[in-house]
Amino acid sequence: MNVTYLGHSCFHLEIDGINLLFDPFITPNELAVDIDVDAIKADYILVSHGHEDHVADVERIAKNTGAKLISNYEIVTWFAEKGVEGHPMNHGGQWSFDFGTVKIVTAEHSSMLPDRSYGGNPCGFVITTKDKTFYYAGDTALTLDMQLIGRMFDLDFAFLPIGDNFTMGLDEAVIAAEFIQCEHIVGMHYDTFGYIKINKDEATQKFKETGCTLHLPELGNSVQF
Ligand code: NI
Ligand code: MN
Repeated sequence: MNVTYLGHSCFHLEIDGINLLFDPFITPNELAVDIDVDAIKADYILVSHGHEDHVADVERIAKNTGAKLISNYEIVTWFAEKGVEGHPMNHGGQWSFDFGTVKIVTAEHSSMLPDRSYGGNPCGFVITTKDKTFYYAGDTALTLDMQLIGRMFDLDFAFLPIGDNFTMGLDEAVIAAEFIQCEHIVGMHYDTFGYIKINKDEATQKFKETGCTLHLPELGNSVQF
């Protein structure tokens, strides 16, 4: 599976020719100026919560590509009014799509859409495809609920926020990796703005000490799983 980092918490995944995009925040991201937002392929856009740094380019990319939005009921309803087609879900629920199964899991955070509309509860996703199972945590604190993910799924890799201040930081992400029983972690939600700048070498080293690998691909680059 090919995973490409598009900055902040945005990733593009290609699963057997189907394109998944998570939390698109590209045009407002000064670090992502080299990414051509109109060249991004998407069949599905998955959105973890309503904050601007996760939804900024949803409408533009959905209209360019015809991608279907997968998110909670409130966010899907909000985007439907803008003409974006979506599949509404909510916590604990699971649905099978053509690329695999999506389960919505808890994230401890807040959620408000850019016009201050209620965004429902923030979430994470556990996705099971033919070949791989992975967890996209969204913006979240460390929670004991993550142990349930480790118990219910055999994860091949996971996306965890590591930037601190708005989400859990590095030390808690190391504990999260243990809770979800996953050895390959892709870091997200770091370096984009002042509050969340990290030392990448220190981060990589901290995970290494616990036997985990922290993947921090350069913006625009890919990792294979
Ligand atoms: Ni947020
Ligand atoms: Mn955020």
